[in-house]
Amino acid sequence: MPITTFNSFNDGLAPNQRSREHFIASIDLEDGPHWVPYADGVWIQPCHFNVTSGGFSVVLKGFPGAALGTHYHIGTVRGFTMRGHWRYLEHDWVAKPGTFIYEPAGEAHTLIITADSPEPALIFFAVEGGLIYLDKQVDGGFAAYEDGFTALEFCLKYYRETGLDVRKLDALVR
Ligand SMILES: [Fe+2]
Repeated sequence: MPITTFNSFNDGLAPNQRSREHFIASIDLEDGPHWVPYADGVWIQPCHFNVTSGGFSVVLKGFPGAALGTHYHIGTVRGFTMRGHWRYLEHDWVAKPGTFIYEPAGEAHTLIITADSPEPALIFFAVEGGLIYLDKQVDGGFAAYEDGFTALEFCLKYYRETGLDVRKLDALVR
């Protein structure tokens, strides 16, 4: 869940645990325990918490008909569709497996997995900076905020609550 109040977040790692090395990560594309609930019918698996720029990368899974609240990006986004059909209410295209999207900073949009998607959607997103959830689709005001730090916080919380190994998340921090 994105945040609505602000605090000082960091990566929670001691300086000697911080790394600039390359890493690889295994993402479970099926229905294992590592999907972190994000919204109604939407889950994410983190790939990278970018505590250098403040962004993050995830694989998002969404059931047909599920939606994410309208949000505004302060940085660019790149996305790649692996499974399912999805769209933004603000655009007239439908993304399908193989669809790549580049999103400029400054765009507000509302992601929905189309109700007729033949399968749950799996989409990789690389988000370069924070995003702001809006309280309505048109001329919306601030509702909540998300970035690489808040994403790390809620993933850590979920991992702790469910007994998953948080070191798997620490390994994704750069
Ligand atoms: Fe977005």
